[in-house]
Amino acid sequence: MADQLDLLLGVIFVASPMLGMPPCSSDGQIALFRLCNLTQIPWVLHTTERLLLSFNYISMVNATSFPLLEQLMLLELGTQYTPMTIDREAFRNLPNLRILDLGQNKIKVLNPDAFQGLPHLLELRLFSCELSSVVLRDGYFRNLNSLARLDLSANQIYSLRLHSSFQELNSLKAIDFSFNEIFTLCEEELKPLEGKTLSFFGLKSTSLFSRVSVDWETCRNPFRGMWLETLDLSSNGWTVTITGNFSSIIWGSQVSSLFLTHHIMGSGFGFQNIKDPDQNTFAGLATSSVYVLDLSHGYIFSLNSYVFKTLKDLKLLNLAYNKINKIADNAFYGLDKLQVLNMSSNLLGELYNSNFYGLPRVGYIDLQKNHIGIIQYQTFRSLKELHTLDLRDNALKTINFIPSILTVFLSGNKLVRLPHIHFTANFIQLSENRLENLADLYFLLRVPQLQFLILNQNRLSSCEAIYTSSENLSLEQLFLAENMLQLPWENGLCWDIFKGLFHLQVLYLNSNFLHFLPPGIFSDLVSLRKLSLGANRLTTLSPDTLPANLEILDISRNQLFSPDPWLFASLSVLDITHNEFICQCELSPFITWLNQTNVTLLGSPANIYCMYPDSLLGTSIYSLSTKDCDEEEALQSLKFLLFILCTITLALLLISTIVAIKFRGSCFLCYKTIQKLMFKDKVWSLEPSAYRYDAYFCFSSKDFEWAQNALLKHLDVQYSSHNRLRLCFEERDFIPGENHISNIQAAVWGSRKTVCLVSRQFLKDGWCLEAFRYAHGRCLSDLKNVLIVVVVGSLSQYQLMKHETVKGFLQKQQYLRWPEDPQDIGWFLNKLSGHILKEEKEKKRSNTIQLQTLTTIS
Ligand SMILES: *[C@@H]1O[C@H](CO)[C@@H](O)[C@H](O)[C@H]1NC(C)=O
Ligand SMILES: *[C@@H]1O[C@H](CO)[C@@H](O)[C@H](O)[C@H]1NC(C)=O
Ligand SMILES: *[C@@H]1O[C@H](CO)[C@@H](O)[C@H](O)[C@H]1NC(C)=O
Ligand SMILES: *[C@@H]1O[C@H](CO)[C@@H](O)[C@H](O)[C@H]1NC(C)=O
Ligand SMILES: *[C@@H]1O[C@H](CO)[C@@H](O)[C@H](O)[C@H]1NC(C)=O
Ligand SMILES: *[C@@H]1O[C@H](CO)[C@@H](O)[C@H](O)[C@H]1NC(C)=O
Ligand SMILES: *[C@@H]1O[C@H](CO)[C@@H](O)[C@H](O)[C@H]1NC(C)=O
Repeated sequence: MADQLDLLLGVIFVASPMLGMPPCSSDGQIALFRLCNLTQIPWVLHTTERLLLSFNYISMVNATSFPLLEQLMLLELGTQYTPMTIDREAFRNLPNLRILDLGQNKIKVLNPDAFQGLPHLLELRLFSCELSSVVLRDGYFRNLNSLARLDLSANQIYSLRLHSSFQELNSLKAIDFSFNEIFTLCEEELKPLEGKTLSFFGLKSTSLFSRVSVDWETCRNPFRGMWLETLDLSSNGWTVTITGNFSSIIWGSQVSSLFLTHHIMGSGFGFQNIKDPDQNTFAGLATSSVYVLDLSHGYIFSLNSYVFKTLKDLKLLNLAYNKINKIADNAFYGLDKLQVLNMSSNLLGELYNSNFYGLPRVGYIDLQKNHIGIIQYQTFRSLKELHTLDLRDNALKTINFIPSILTVFLSGNKLVRLPHIHFTANFIQLSENRLENLADLYFLLRVPQLQFLILNQNRLSSCEAIYTSSENLSLEQLFLAENMLQLPWENGLCWDIFKGLFHLQVLYLNSNFLHFLPPGIFSDLVSLRKLSLGANRLTTLSPDTLPANLEILDISRNQLFSPDPWLFASLSVLDITHNEFICQCELSPFITWLNQTNVTLLGSPANIYCMYPDSLLGTSIYSLSTKDCDEEEALQSLKFLLFILCTITLALLLISTIVAIKFRGSCFLCYKTIQKLMFKDKVWSLEPSAYRYDAYFCFSSKDFEWAQNALLKHLDVQYSSHNRLRLCFEERDFIPGENHISNIQAAVWGSRKTVCLVSRQFLKDGWCLEAFRYAHGRCLSDLKNVLIVVVVGSLSQYQLMKHETVKGFLQKQQYLRWPEDPQDIGWFLNKLSGHILKEEKEKKRSNTIQLQTLTTIS
């Protein structure tokens, strides 16, 4: 019955579509006349179902005030601004009225027959009507056979002595007397309600029993013989004594839910003078079948031993918002059926193994908003039916006490590193902690049976994990918002973090400072439907980044400047507001797509705006025209063609360059071979020479080995018949016993050219420098460039210029450098041979030789 009633009232109120109606009018079913300065009931159609007349000046309602409205279900006549008189049978023309609201009227005169003729009335609202106890004592509510709810709260009722006619109100379910001043309530007063079952009896904030001293012996049980589903005795200033005496006088009455919130039981923090509840306080409730006891918002400091001993049926105990700091041994003894224990917002600092003894059935323990810093290892392990543990907003630094349960809330603690213990869980919430290392994430992902993991607002930024196993991970939702995943990812670490999450459906990565998404980071997320990348710093999204089956994407508050609309084509919902779009023609495919797409776009269109150019800064993309860009499209295709051509040319060039650089040695060999075949060595056929030698090779004797292998063997005719040059060098051709200077002179003058191999050793060797000077001297006298300088090794210009002789030459002439890359040697030797054989007519012409290895010193 009560449920049906709820349903009916719900329909009447929830479904009232009054918002669209003009005020002071009627649409035939609903007549909306609130705030219309009415002094009388207005005329309305007889089809009216709801008549809303609050906030007017109607001062008189009598039997002729209303026309016959047989359809009327709801009459709202509260808050009239004048004192009101309600005459006899005032509502008799509304025979089907279900709800009569007269709340907040100054009812000056209420006729005892005022409510007669309302056989179907379900709910009567008379709150704040300045009514006195008379309204209960005389038979005002007689014959209201359907009345289920009577609201008499906030009147001036001092006594609940009920008229005998209440006995006949067989539908009565809920009576509210809250906010009256009812100092006592004894057995005789509620006698007419005996035998009834009420879903609600409200006595909140009535000063009941706390203002006057009560003779409990004579008062006896006011609720005798009644079944109360909810008895609200909150905010009555009850002490431990009053609570104890009250619970003992109602012995035997059934009260399923007892609300005693905002009590003054308990010593509070730092006081001793007021008692905490003890084992006698609730003892009287032993036979009352209390399922719910709400003691929240009080001053209980210590939960004493056996305090709830007699509450065998209790399923929910709410102790939130007290000052509980101590849990005595066996405090919960006897709560054999308790399922939910709420101790949130207390002053607990530590928990011991014995704290929750005596709670064999408890499934949910709420300990949020305490100061718990440490929990003994076995504290929760003996609670076999525990499934949910709420430890939010405490001061925990470890979770080693966590048993295997379904749901764990641990946000707002001080966790820095998790011990990698073994447990199973379905839901773990760890947001607002200080976790830094992704190793903890790898560990959590592998908690068996885990489906929901919330790690928002941590400091996840380092990665030392090398887990490779990606078994069949069960996770379905992962929240990683407000961390710093950019840091490990930019260092190339932990890119496998989402590996194996084949069942993941929802992933939050917003606010992670992300500049990029590692390639393939989402490749295993085949089930992902929702992804949040909001508030990062992404500038582009590459085509294969997003998971294939994604439906909902939040990429708002990034720095996307010209996204490719194809990326979003398969989505159903997209938030792309607050990005940094560059409003040039490149953006026109995106603009066109936005205009046409079926994808639901979240956020206001005004928030999809240009960031550049400055002239369009802040302009909504929807207000842009792409017309001018269409003309460019023809040009675009031309440009594209050009682009392709350029690309091909460039590619060819690049390839040839690469070939030239990488394989220039081999190329040169090929070239030589072909040349040989074609010209049969014509180039090398020499006219008879006046010189005995083609070249005098001058080098330090310490470089002989090298010079022989690198040069002489490849050039000198005596080393190999393939060679063509007749060379002279000290080790072989100088006449032994002869003056060294004479030998040098003879060599310089007897050779077409002098080749100096200037190395570090050369510069240290006085004879070499002498030969150099000599050859240089011949240059000057012959006006011919007969000196060829080859610098060998890493000699700097500075080192070369230290020697006057060398300096004099280098200032005017070019020199050769021995190639660093071995593949260049063949080419170099060829070039050198060319130099040696070249007949110099004029000195200056030698300067025009352009070699790759040539360096000019100015
Ligand atoms: C009611 O009266 C007040 C003051 O006289 C006036 O401002 C207001 O517009 C009136 N409302 C209607 C609906 O007539
Ligand atoms: C009802 O009240 C109106 C004034 O609001 C008055 O004119 C009328 O006579 C009253 N009718 C009865 C039956 O009292
Ligand atoms: C009321 O409580 C006081 C103190 O606990 C106790 O001495 C007294 O017997 C109680 N009276 C009744 C009727 O329970
Ligand atoms: C515990 O009580 C507080 C305050 O009344 C409430 O906010 C919280 O939801 C309750 N917890 C449970 C599990 O009911
Ligand atoms: C992976 O786990 C799901 C259930 O979470 C199960 O249906 C599926 O068979 C498992 N696959 C493998 C390969 O173990
Ligand atoms: C939008 O939906 C309509 C009808 O469902 C369809 O005909 C149209 O092609 C869709 N447009 C796009 C851009 O997907
Ligand atoms: C958006 O579409 C409407 C019609 O569907 C068209 O008139 C308008 O020009 C379009 N705007 C842009 C910017 O494409």
